[in-house]
Amino acid sequence: MKKMTLALSCGLLTVALQATTVWADPLYSLRGNVDVNEISEMIPNRRSMAVDGGIEVTFEDQPPVIPHGIDKTRITLNENSCLSCHGKAYSKTENAVEPPKSHYKTREGKKLKQISTGRYFCTQCHVPQAYTEALVDNDFKN
Ligand code: HEC
Ligand code: HEC
Repeated sequence: MKKMTLALSCGLLTVALQATTVWADPLYSLRGNVDVNEISEMIPNRRSMAVDGGIEVTFEDQPPVIPHGIDKTRITLNENSCLSCHGKAYSKTENAVEPPKSHYKTREGKKLKQISTGRYFCTQCHVPQAYTEALVDNDFKN
């Protein structure tokens, strides 16, 4: 009887292990197969895409993707180096596209002199691109 229980639990364990492998294996995020609570050791070293004239948006109201590398930019509470090119005072001299009027309004539509705090963390919406394979197949049509 004991032997049978052992055999049965071994069998169940194998099934459970196989099930987790099937579920966890094929989808690796860019930080590798590392638990959310753990620090990823993997250093992604992918060449940033740089496209003159920008990258066409694929749907209405899409935040345009960033057509240049952003390795040297920093966005912290005290500093936003995107604005050292895209800010009102610099965009002409840097030849950088000025953020649209929507970025200088509160949620209620009140006009602001500075970028709205709701838009301060640019990379929440605008993302850089890299020369790399897509992680998952995608058949989205423009
Ligand atoms: C050294 C100056 C510089 C810095 C710093 C910089 N940009 Fe740019 N950015 C540019 C220039 C110049 C262009 C225009 C490129 C072109 O169209 O050829 C551009 C284009 C863009 C565009 C595309 C706009 C469109 O209509 O297609 C986005 C979005 C953008 N940048 C976001 C950012 C964000 C977010 C940051 C910070 C993480 C940032 N940029 C930092 C100079 C800069
Ligand atoms: C909450 C999302 C969000 C955040 C945060 C955000 N943007 Fe945008 N951005 C958009 C969307 C959506 C568009 C396109 C639609 C529009 O015009 O509002 C856009 C458009 C732009 C454009 C294109 C302008 C043009 O004429 O082609 C630039 C440049 C830009 N943003 C820069 C920035 C910068 C710099 C920051 C940070 C200071 C930032 N954005 C933060 C959503 C965002």
